Amino acid sequence: MRAVRRHRVFAFVTAVGVMVAPIAGMPSVVSARATPQQQAAPDTSVITPAMVNAGRAIFHGKGTCFACHGAELQGTQVAPTLKAHAWRDAKNGEFANIFYVVTHGVSGTLMVAFPGGISKPEALSAAAYVWSVGQGRVKP
Ligand code: HEC
Repeated sequence: MRAVRRHRVFAFVTAVGVMVAPIAGMPSVVSARATPQQQAAPDTSVITPAMVNAGRAIFHGKGTCFACHGAELQGTQVAPTLKAHAWRDAKNGEFANIFYVVTHGVSGTLMVAFPGGISKPEALSAAAYVWSVGQGRVKP
C-alpha cells in the first residue's frame, strides 16, 4: 500500500519536472545567445545629419511619436521623456536599443512596433533623431 503511494507521488513529481524543465531552462538558453539588440545592432556610424532631419520629420509627423512623448521629447502623462534619462527599455539610451524599441515595441504598453506604420528605414531615422537628442547633439 505504502509503496504504491510513494510510487504515484514519484511519478507525479517526475511528470511535473519534465513539463517545467524546458520552461525553466529557457531564460538561460536565450541569454546565452546574442541579445536581439546585438543581432540587429545598427552602428552610430550610419547616422548622418540628413537621417537625423528625416527622423525629426517622422517623429513629429507620420510616426506620431510626439503625441505620446511630447513635441519637445519631454514626456507626457502616457509616455516617458526621450531626452537623457534613466532609460527603461532602450538600455543606456544606446542607438541600437532605441532602434530595437521602435521596431519591436514594449509589449503590454502603448509603445507599439513601428508606430504610425513607419517603415524600417523610417524607424532607423527616428531612432537616430531620438539618440541624437539624447546625446545633446541636436535640439528636439
Ligand atoms: C501611443 C503612444 C506612443 C507612441 C505613438 C510612441 N511611443 Fe514610444 N513609448 C510609449 C510608452 C508608453 C513607452 C514606455 C513603455 C514602458 O512602459 O516601458 C515608450 C517608450 C519608448 C522608448 C523607450 C524609452 C526608455 O525609457 O527606454 C523609446 C526609445 C520610444 N518609446 C521611442 C518612440 C518613437 C521613436 C516613436 C515614434 C516612431 C514612439 N516612441 C511612439 C508610447 C508611445
